[in-house]
Amino acid sequence: MFTAAALRTDDKSALYAELGAQMRGLLHGERDRVANAANFAALVWQQVPDINWCGFYFFDGRELVVGPFQGKPACVRIALGKGVCGTAAATRETQLVADVHEFAGHIACDGDSNSEVVVPLYDGDRLIGVWDVDSPHLARFDADDRAGMEALCAIYLESIA
Ligand code: SME
Repeated sequence: MFTAAALRTDDKSALYAELGAQMRGLLHGERDRVANAANFAALVWQQVPDINWCGFYFFDGRELVVGPFQGKPACVRIALGKGVCGTAAATRETQLVADVHEFAGHIACDGDSNSEVVVPLYDGDRLIGVWDVDSPHLARFDADDRAGMEALCAIYLESIA
């Protein structure tokens, strides 16, 4: 059994540092891409406040296909360049969206989502997929969340390398 202590949520850099340590412990010793993605999503869901969806979309060689996640059932396939997820994958840049309703082409999977952060997952030049976190609050994610989520994603990518 893996027990993750509750984390302080008032200091984002402390939250992500401690969550990173928990994530390393959780993924340690396992390299399966799906297993680690499932536990990754579950731990973020448990520890990060004010989110309504978090999960992976994996690249199948043609488009993004939903992977392990927490939250309501989601859209299954997203074309590269489409929506926030497809944009992150195509541009290779984390997308920090304060109001998804202002994002041209946003794909509304969960009507509760108002803001979003999406981190592209690359192994060198090879697209693995994206990591997507949604919040019901406008402007829920800032530069600290971007850095924190990117650092967590690096731990995931290392774990499956
Ligand atoms: N909002 C995303 C679609 C995925 S859901 O949020 C789970 C987008 O526009 O890419």
